[in-house]
Amino acid sequence: MKNTACRQQNMGVGYKIFARPLIALQDSEKAHSRSLLALRFVSWSFIGRMLLRILYKPKNIPVSKFGLNFPNPLGLAAGMDKRAEAMKGWENIGFGFIEIGGITEFKQPGNPKPRMFRDGKTQSLINRMGFNNIGSKEMATHLKQTYSPNVPLFLNVGKSKDTKLEDAHLDYAKTVESCLPYVDGFVINVSSPNTPNLRELQKDEDLARIIIEVQKHCEDKPVLVKISPDLGDMQIKSIVDTARGLGCAGIVATNTTVSRPEDGSIMDETGGLSGRPLKNRSTEVIRLIADHTDGNWPIIGVGGISNCDDAYEKISNGAHLIQLYSSLVFEGPGVVKGIVNGLENRMKSNGIYEFSELIGHDRR
Ligand SMILES: Cc1cc2nc3c(=O)[nH]c(=O)nc-3n(C[C@H](O)[C@H](O)[C@H](O)COP(=O)(O)O)c2cc1C
Repeated sequence: MKNTACRQQNMGVGYKIFARPLIALQDSEKAHSRSLLALRFVSWSFIGRMLLRILYKPKNIPVSKFGLNFPNPLGLAAGMDKRAEAMKGWENIGFGFIEIGGITEFKQPGNPKPRMFRDGKTQSLINRMGFNNIGSKEMATHLKQTYSPNVPLFLNVGKSKDTKLEDAHLDYAKTVESCLPYVDGFVINVSSPNTPNLRELQKDEDLARIIIEVQKHCEDKPVLVKISPDLGDMQIKSIVDTARGLGCAGIVATNTTVSRPEDGSIMDETGGLSGRPLKNRSTEVIRLIADHTDGNWPIIGVGGISNCDDAYEKISNGAHLIQLYSSLVFEGPGVVKGIVNGLENRMKSNGIYEFSELIGHDRR
């Protein structure tokens, strides 16, 4: 159901006219690094941060979850800021929480370049980054020395490429142990399609081994599991039962997909597909999990959210919080304000004063 109160505000016009054509001319990964650098630079000074807030900061929609307070339910998804370089920037453009990483125990270069591809026509990205990252020790040192944001901070944790699957639990736990003092919670990523066999770790016994080991080190901080959209219903329910049964705080649904639309509209590159073509499948998975858990277990919904209608759909199907990545590339930073203010308008026009009333609204 579309709603006029949810109409996206015209925040991204400047970005679309000036920045997007420039970015479109550049290699995807280089454009990504330059955009991160620009955000970091602007948010360095007080005046820069003030400018970001004036231009982009949305209204507040306070949410409490996992014992944490979120100024709004929209977060930055994993992979955008793998090294936690621009946290001041994300906070000042209005994200309600930030997920940094993925980080593995050992530093690694990831797959050969090019490994990130953009398709403006379908508003999608394909990536096969392969967990390029600075490793858990360097990340912990960086987090210790850097600015700690005023919004909840989650760390996305993956497995090092050279660590055997049977030792995966130790790899995940080491990263959690190193970074524990500096973040508010962890997302166990067993669903990236770009590390060989990683997604096998979604199997019950392997997943349980990882969760149990991680929990030995995470004290009371929330631990969530991030799943793939390419699983069958039974597998998804089984993962949910395992993670929930072992006391995980919730689930992140979903990661990128290896499937491609049948109409062949998507470019022919291997890797994980994100953005608009992922939207419906990710919502289906959210709905399945919400139905299976009677809406009582927190779901962070991610996949193809690019406007307020998409966000509303995810939440009304059961997402407690939401995240985005790809639409930031296509719409620019104004997408955050457009979504959050649109949600706030929609709540007001429907006489809803608590965000929690929106969660699972279409399931009831
Ligand atoms: C270039 C790129 C890198 C990503 N890296 C990670 C990662 O390290 N860990 C992870 O869990 N998800 C990663 N993701 C997946 C996103 O967090 C998100 O789940 C996915 O892109 C779907 O959201 P979107 O459609 O809003 O982009 C990555 C996505 C992209 C495009």
